[in-house]
Amino acid sequence: RNMTVQDIANVLKKDVDHVLKALEFADKTSDTNYTKKTIIYNPQIIRDVVKISGFRFKLVPNPDQEIEEEENKDAVPAPPAAPEALRPRPPVVCVMGHVDHGKTTLLDALRDTSVVDQEFGGITQHIGAFEVQLSSGEKVTFLDTPGHAAFTAMRSRGAHATDVVVLVVAADDGVMEQTVESIRMAREANVPILVAINKMDKPGVNIERILRALAQHGVVCEAVGGDVQAIPVSALKKQNLDTLVEALTLQAQLMDLKADPGGFVEGVVIEAQLDPRTGKQATVLVQRGTLRKGCVIVAGSGWAKVRMLNSAEGRPVLEAPPSTPVAVLGWRELPAAGDTVLEVASEKRASEVLKWRHNQRMKEKQELDRAAIEAKEAAHR
Ligand code: GTP
Ligand code: MG
Repeated sequence: RNMTVQDIANVLKKDVDHVLKALEFADKTSDTNYTKKTIIYNPQIIRDVVKISGFRFKLVPNPDQEIEEEENKDAVPAPPAAPEALRPRPPVVCVMGHVDHGKTTLLDALRDTSVVDQEFGGITQHIGAFEVQLSSGEKVTFLDTPGHAAFTAMRSRGAHATDVVVLVVAADDGVMEQTVESIRMAREANVPILVAINKMDKPGVNIERILRALAQHGVVCEAVGGDVQAIPVSALKKQNLDTLVEALTLQAQLMDLKADPGGFVEGVVIEAQLDPRTGKQATVLVQRGTLRKGCVIVAGSGWAKVRMLNSAEGRPVLEAPPSTPVAVLGWRELPAAGDTVLEVASEKRASEVLKWRHNQRMKEKQELDRAAIEAKEAAHR
């Protein structure tokens, strides 16, 4: 059956201009000057137009036409801080290791070892990260989203949220496939490893065997002449966890971890969700500056005027300096895990940034559509 261009547009529920544009691509070879009323005799061309239109076809800007460069309104991180502004900050630690080697048990046990908030009696929330404070006052921040997922999300967006990887190896099981995978990921991210040899309460464990296996994969522990700390623990029996945390603070000192607690806040979103109790909530790990109530922050396609900050213990906190994870309330639009958080001067500035980012995304989408059409076109040639 022969159809006019307008008929095709009606059937496809597309603007006739879109169909004309699709025709230009589908029928590059002929000189036909298509209009709304042109009758299409070639069924193959109709099929092609349908395909192209279905391929998220959109009107693309004329490629020969210069797109006017819009002024960049994005929020950007501040230049590096002056050395005298830097203060020591706690290490941010990610726990990784093979299935069932005790990552979750270890994180739960570590959460209980903290001296902070023991008198508070709040309801512990899983906000994706928590802090442990030693009696010495030193702190360590743990990411408690499933190791690989968190690590990969942080990595893929170029946000280097993790300072140290705690590699959990079950003493009875030894180095397994995902142990090796974790080593590889930590290496690629250039993040130092600290080994926690777990399940030490089990009878007949052989540490030497594990240390040898680790060395074979390039993780050479102190006991066998290397510089990687290995701490035997029992997550289940909560044995030697203080030593593990102390080893982490030592590692942090060696790394000379510092950040500027002043100036505009910078950080990374650890997780974001609609909480049935609190509404739009996202955990922010502060990396620079100090987050407080009233701060206006942008993150990906989200933004917030901070209404409230909560710790993992569910305690309201007044301020979050570098390396502190806090559940942030006050989001107008939720960000996504892995998004970079940046403080801006005002709500007006936030909406300007968001609008600019939205336009950028639209442009990128257009580019993608154009690429899809070109690919289609090439395939038909
Ligand atoms: P996945 O999340 O599935 O990868 O596992 P995981 O690494 O989080 O291990 P999880 O903490 O769930 O522990 C697995 C099993 O090992 C559970 O039955 C724990 O009770 C047990 N387990 C963990 N730590 C210890 C320990 O120190 N000693 C002993 N005996 N058992 C432990
Ligand atoms: Mg687990």
